[in-house]
Amino acid sequence: MKIGIEKISFHIPRQYLELSRLAEQHGTDVQKFRRGIGQERMSFPLHDEDVVTLAAEAALPIIKEHGPDGIDSVLFATETSIDQSKSAGIYVHNLLGLNTQCRNVELKQACYGATAAVQMACGYVARRPDRKVLVIASDVSRYDLGGAAEATQGCGAVAMLISANPSIMQIDIMAGLYSEDIMDFWRPNYRITPLVDGKYSALKYLQSLSHTWQDYQSNEGRAFQDFAQFCYHLPFSRMGKKAHMYLASINDQPVNKEKFMPGLVYNRVIGNCYSAALYLSLISALENSEEDLSGKPVALFSYGSGAVAEFFSGVVQPGYKAHMVTERHKRLITDREALSYERYLELWHAPNPQNGEEIVNKVETQGAFRLAKISDHKRYYETIRS
Ligand code: HMG
Repeated sequence: MKIGIEKISFHIPRQYLELSRLAEQHGTDVQKFRRGIGQERMSFPLHDEDVVTLAAEAALPIIKEHGPDGIDSVLFATETSIDQSKSAGIYVHNLLGLNTQCRNVELKQACYGATAAVQMACGYVARRPDRKVLVIASDVSRYDLGGAAEATQGCGAVAMLISANPSIMQIDIMAGLYSEDIMDFWRPNYRITPLVDGKYSALKYLQSLSHTWQDYQSNEGRAFQDFAQFCYHLPFSRMGKKAHMYLASINDQPVNKEKFMPGLVYNRVIGNCYSAALYLSLISALENSEEDLSGKPVALFSYGSGAVAEFFSGVVQPGYKAHMVTERHKRLITDREALSYERYLELWHAPNPQNGEEIVNKVETQGAFRLAKISDHKRYYETIRS
């Protein structure tokens, strides 16, 4: 039985900051951002947008086309959760009008959470092939202003329907795993921004790639040369390039740009969307590769600081292009507005009420869903367009 991705779709806000603006403010050579880390722009949410609205927008085209029937589980991966107890997926479940006979749960392990969700969904569908699981990864990456990591901020959500009818990609059973208790990036409950040891985190990312690759190989994984595309977790696009060069060198193979560059295209103009980043890279590879990937294997490397990593793979299905919402995705990227640096600062300081005071957001988003207000410690979402 084939199990994997039946539908996949992403969403980002309409606003972005051009990194040249940040370079001006930091007195940094913009080439450090463009060439050094491989980033041009970062997506940024308005105050009436958050991980819930991004997630609901990402899943909307899937639910519009597929309807809610058969979906009995929502697995919501995020590391920028809006509540310590209630799953963000429950708000999304309501906004999308999913059936009440449905389970909802939130998963967290830094940027790795969505991969755990995908594997759990595949396992569940193997047991109940008549059921489908909506996996959503949604994050807003916000680092300290003025720090080295600020240029890698971004945000976005990816929604995937996992089923026994994987019209886009069948997920292979073999995988390579690696976990290690390290402090490369973490966010204590009382902080709104993470603490990060940037250089160490990049080193651990590469070491984890090597460990997971070895485990994947020992579990009868595919050979390096068999893959048509490689998709990596992308904190910034140059990390994907470094990862690919490293993996090629471990395998004594030449580097073929065509096999990893298509996966970097979207990240370069969006930034780090943490748990969604690997899956944004997968969409980017499927939509930007010049080769028809039908029947071809794709490699996926997931890394979440702290750290958990997984190397796994899938086979792109014939006719996959007809199931992608490529035009919608391309429009989301091209039809955006640049933020001034001052407006970016205003948005960075999103209201964060601590004592039940009421925050009423102006209607700013052009999306279907919005965070209308936070009042008496409760978040109120609304649908403003269908
Ligand atoms: P930095 O230390 O300021 O940058 O920030 P740098 O000095 O290392 O420069 C970066 C690159 O730009 C270097 O190239 C420079 O040579 C080059 P490299 O040595 O890497 O080849 N450079 C230039 N190139 C052209 N023209 C110039 C120029 N100047 C310099 N004028 C750092 C970089 C990654 C540390 C920072 O962005 C950071 O802390 N980011 C956050 C952490 C991160 O993204 N880590 C990645 C791995 S961990 C991960 O992916 C997990 C994560 O997503 C979280 C999660 O799991 O939840 C982060």
